[in-house]
Amino acid sequence: MSNKESNLILIIDFGSQYTQLIARRVRESGVYSIVKSNYISKNEFSKLKPKGIILSGGPESVSSTKIHKLSGFILESGIPILGICYGMQLITHYFKGKVSLSTKKEFGHSTFKITKSSKLFNSLNKKIKLKVWMSHSDKVSKLPVGFENLGSSDNTKIAAISDPIRKIYGLQFHPEVTHTDFGAQIINNYLYKICNCKKTWTTKNIINETIENIRNKIKDKKVILALSGGVDSTVVAALLHKAISKQLTCIFIDTGMMRKYEVDEVKKNISQKLKIKLITIDACKIFFSKLKNITSPEKKRKVIGETFIRIFEKEAKKLKDIQFLAQGTIYPDIIESSSKNSKSDVIKSHHNVGGLPKNMNLKLVEPIKSLFKDEVRKIGKSLKIPMGLINRHPFPGPGLAVRIIGDITSDKVKILQEVDHIFIEELKKNNLYNKISQALAVFLPIKSVGVMGDQRQYNYVVALRAVKTVDFMTASVSEIPYNILNKISTRIVNEVEGVARVVFDITSKPPGTIEWE
Ligand code: XMP
Repeated sequence: MSNKESNLILIIDFGSQYTQLIARRVRESGVYSIVKSNYISKNEFSKLKPKGIILSGGPESVSSTKIHKLSGFILESGIPILGICYGMQLITHYFKGKVSLSTKKEFGHSTFKITKSSKLFNSLNKKIKLKVWMSHSDKVSKLPVGFENLGSSDNTKIAAISDPIRKIYGLQFHPEVTHTDFGAQIINNYLYKICNCKKTWTTKNIINETIENIRNKIKDKKVILALSGGVDSTVVAALLHKAISKQLTCIFIDTGMMRKYEVDEVKKNISQKLKIKLITIDACKIFFSKLKNITSPEKKRKVIGETFIRIFEKEAKKLKDIQFLAQGTIYPDIIESSSKNSKSDVIKSHHNVGGLPKNMNLKLVEPIKSLFKDEVRKIGKSLKIPMGLINRHPFPGPGLAVRIIGDITSDKVKILQEVDHIFIEELKKNNLYNKISQALAVFLPIKSVGVMGDQRQYNYVVALRAVKTVDFMTASVSEIPYNILNKISTRIVNEVEGVARVVFDITSKPPGTIEWE
């Protein structure tokens, strides 16, 4: 049995913004975890054989008529359960305790005091107050029979519960959030003291297991991979290369919408450093002609996706006897595309590929589809992929095309490439790049008046954007010191011909998306 199956924590998602974070924290502690909806079938549940179950938080109230239920076969399975926030209230409700509306809601920081020793709080000092992260308007007001109160918070008398006989635990606060003191210790206690998990989810094990799975699946067949130059597809290439070396061919299509030096960097990293077979196709002319006069963001994405796939198909057909198509799908793609509380997982078509090649009859291989981005990065590091590439901010599949507002021309792309290059170079020089989740420059199709020396000029405006985010679903604006913004702006206007003015975008997401288109 693989280490995944023998040692699994099942996370039931009730719609909390922190569900993925719970899964990541469990994995960081060394145990494989997966996220499923509360409609998981008995059959699927039995097959998973989890060592423990974590019920996430969620926006609903257990007293509402729309309550997200959980079947008794899970709650009474005898497998240890940890309910977090809504999860704890659901446990209380199911086992006939009482949940009521809190007169004082708690959102944000609170303090928690342990009032009773428990395996969940193993090695935590009972005397100290823990800073914890809360996000609730309901509270447990009466314990179910068999349960005991483990601690209280500023406004909630019952903020942690347990039934040690049935191994059911509940926390009103969020141990998965870094603002909670000893959150990782509490999760560790649950995994190792209560569920008796083994620490098997390590980078080395993940790599070995993935390579073994690839070999079993591919055997002596041939694989192609559409390489985007980003971390996911590069890690997939490196894993496949390690597993089946010469049976892999990567195809990299230069759409003309890449960043400055990107095409050369991809070639250098893949062919020279990693020694992987790479075919590079210069398709800039085709993309520019297909995109001519197109201004709608969705139309741009569609045209790029379709053009990409047609070129990929044509090139792949030139190679003989290919049976598999590899993709860099990662776990958040799968979780996010399976709608909340739906009964099945729907896999999102890959951004960069824009759909599978038609009429090619290729089987899919997705070696990193159960991994989170941070795990992919760790694997990349271990496989000696250059750190510059591993820590690179995300870049959309359609590339600079969705960062040029309005129609696309090669002159505009050139301007944007230069602006982006200066912006990113300065962020790196000033040690800001790794503190920002995504930084980007946008070309605006408006002209503005300026003076350069004694000359009046009338040129384009560019916008800079830098955001901080955990999951890219919401984001806040990164604060860049004014003196650095000033330097960036001066460099752009002085060094990039065609730009007269630089603006900085201070819109968070929501309401603004990260990309402008
Ligand atoms: P938004 O703009 O939706 O972006 O807030 C969230 C994240 O997704 C990236 N993004 C894309 N990635 N193809 C991609 O591969 C796309 O069409 C696309 N649109 C947005 C964006 O860069 C950010 O990281």
